[in-house]
Formats: sequence, C-alpha cells, structure tokens
Amino acid sequence: MKLFLDTADVAVIKDMLPTGMVDGVTTNPSLIAKSGRNIAEVIAEICALVEGPISAEAVATDFETMVKEGDKLAAIAPNVVVKLPLTWDGLRAARAFADKGVQTNVTLCFSAAQALLAAKAGATYVSPFVGRLDDHGAVGSELLEEIRALYDIHGFETQILAASLRHPAHVTAAALAGSDAATLPADTFKALIKHPLTDRGLDAFLADWGKTGQSIL
Ligand code: G3P
Repeated sequence: MKLFLDTADVAVIKDMLPTGMVDGVTTNPSLIAKSGRNIAEVIAEICALVEGPISAEAVATDFETMVKEGDKLAAIAPNVVVKLPLTWDGLRAARAFADKGVQTNVTLCFSAAQALLAAKAGATYVSPFVGRLDDHGAVGSELLEEIRALYDIHGFETQILAASLRHPAHVTAAALAGSDAATLPADTFKALIKHPLTDRGLDAFLADWGKTGQSIL
C-alpha cells in the first residue's frame, strides 16, 4: 500500500521525505488555504520534491471551468493528479481527463455507490473519507472493504486511496481492506512507528550494551 502525505506544507514534506516512506502527496483547498501560499507555486514546489503522484484540487463546480482548472493544474508537472469532487460535473471531468491521459483523484467519496460511479468515470484514484464517516456515526473502514469487493468483482482499475485517516488504526484498517494507497497527515504518519515497548526495549538493550564496554566500530 502506497503512503501519501496529506499536506500542502513544504516544510512538513521535507521533514518526512528522509523516511523513504512518502510515495506521494495529496492536497485539498483547505490545506492550500492553511499553507497561505499560491496553489500553482506550492504544487510546483511539491512536485519538484516528490516523484510520486501529487493531487491538486480543482475548485470550480461546473464541468467547463473544472476542466480549465484541471488543465492548468496538470500543466504544472507530469506528476500532478487532478483532484475532482464526487459530483456529476466532477465525474464528467474525470472522464474527460481519463480520455486525454491525465490522472485524476475523485474525492469526497462517502458511499460504495459513489465509488462505483468514480470507477465508471475512469478515475485513477477514488478517495473515501474514513474519519469523516466515523464522525458521522458510521464505521468508515467498512466502506473501504465494500469498495474493494465491488472493484474486484467488476475488475475496475481505479485505485482506492483511503483518506481522512486520523490515527494508526485507521491506516491498518485501510491496509487490511486492501486499499491501494492511504493519505495521512504528518502526525498520523509519525504515529505509525510509535510503540512504548519499542522505546522501552531499546533503552534496555542500550543500557546492557553500555555495561559490556564494547564498540562495534
Ligand atoms: O484528504 C482528505 C483529508 O484531508 C480529510 O481529512 O481529517 O479533514 O477529515 P479530515
């Protein structure tokens, strides 16, 4: 499963890149607003830093303007993925981009029926929002399982990009559901490695090693 960073903060990306675990980046209008930067500039900078797919979202709600915005975003770099909302116009735009070989990420997916439409529109990725479904009283990870089953039964190639992941259990649930990718804020990314027994065990090993007076080098 690919791991993407869900941020438009270049400093955060630079901090996480040395882990060797960042396979791509996703942004959305809220994250761009939070960065306080111009969308074209920040997306260009991220694309130069990270080789993998970088999602940049169109903000128009009508098909024609969405396509114009998507064309402009896609022209920034070859690894831009045009992110589009799960609306009829967004799906129509996804089909138009698929037909001209531009990658898309259909976002704001909250049901298997919506994911079916995204796949039929030829989306490269569909982004089900796990945490927001949990907030709504549902079990978000169950949607990932449903979409996986639906896509496998029908041989759809659209990749499931689990989004709105708030903690490590969301990420493991996404992996166990067979998601192709997961996008995580840096805090969730960093929390994946944490276990108190790892810290305690390492402290004990190092303390014992210190007593030997040896050096490996
Ligand atoms: O990629 C979508 C994600 O940013 C939404 O996360 O935590 O705002 O629901 P959240």
